[in-house]
Amino acid sequence: MKNKILVTGATGTIGTFVCKQLKDRNAEFTALVRSREKAMSLADQGIEIAFGDLSDRESLQKAMTGIDKLFLLSTTSPLSPELQGNAVQTAQKAGIKHIVKIAARGSSPNADFNIGRWHGMIEDEIRKSGISYTFLQAHTFMQNLLFDAESIKKDNAIYNIQGDGKIPMIDARDIAEVAVIALTQGDHHFHKTYDLTGPEAISYKDIANELSHLLGREIRYINQTTDEGRKNMQSSGMPEWLIDDMIHLNKKYAFDEASEVSPDVENLLERKPHTIRTFLKDYKMHFE
Ligand SMILES: NC(=O)c1ccc[n+]([C@@H]2O[C@H](COP(=O)([O-])OP(=O)(O)OC[C@H]3O[C@@H](n4cnc5c(N)ncnc54)[C@H](OP(=O)(O)O)[C@@H]3O)[C@@H](O)[C@H]2O)c1
Repeated sequence: MKNKILVTGATGTIGTFVCKQLKDRNAEFTALVRSREKAMSLADQGIEIAFGDLSDRESLQKAMTGIDKLFLLSTTSPLSPELQGNAVQTAQKAGIKHIVKIAARGSSPNADFNIGRWHGMIEDEIRKSGISYTFLQAHTFMQNLLFDAESIKKDNAIYNIQGDGKIPMIDARDIAEVAVIALTQGDHHFHKTYDLTGPEAISYKDIANELSHLLGREIRYINQTTDEGRKNMQSSGMPEWLIDDMIHLNKKYAFDEASEVSPDVENLLERKPHTIRTFLKDYKMHFE
């Protein structure tokens, strides 16, 4: 099979690492970008660009000409099923043979949280399209801790509503590496769903302890009530559907209901996934 890849979400957290790793492997790929400014910085790295937007089928049709594989990612929102659905339908017409899609742990059309349900609806559409797929159902990204950088710097504190619950957060760099393996290796990744987690379940208290050790000053974990957490998220401008999901998921996490570590990343990468210690060390400059 030919192997020219179209990378969507190329300017985001995972997509940036996917592009870098594909480039390091000399893979043939194009990045779908919707902003001229962001396209410049990718083009400066020698990455081929196709301008396009998931809401614009014509731009997708052009971008998918001559493409064999699709890396599918976009910001999650109530519009995701429609936007990613546009990509799936265009991919089908363009004769694309394989879609590697980022989803979330627990994704299903019947999931009890919005993000999981929307991902599940798109996964179903891909299954029905007849295109081979690899679904990467990822747990919480370690990179989400960058949203706590301000309070870590200002108050020496992390605020959350997860109590002492533990979850196996994953480094987005590992997710990207798994995606690149699925995109560039043979068909044994077809029709597979991988459950992507980090190597150990950790609590916010564990993270605060790691940060204290790393930064040489005490960082506290402050557990908030649901109401305090909601107000906090509202003041950061989060939409209500996302706040509802975060509250719902954190309640589960507080009772260790999504704490199982999956072997999939280690099996696929043939190494342990990054620990929280490695992640914090590599991103230290954001928390100092
Ligand atoms: N954060 C977590 O803990 C977590 C856990 C599990 C799963 N996930 C899933 O991971 C995905 C997000 O990954 P990420 O954090 O790497 O993404 P991200 O940093 O939020 O970036 C989103 C990317 O999608 C692009 N995009 C958005 N709307 C688009 C459109 N209409 N047309 C073309 N491109 C569009 C953005 O382009 P612009 O730069 O132009 O905006 C950007 O490149 C979501 O599906 C989420 O559900 C997240």
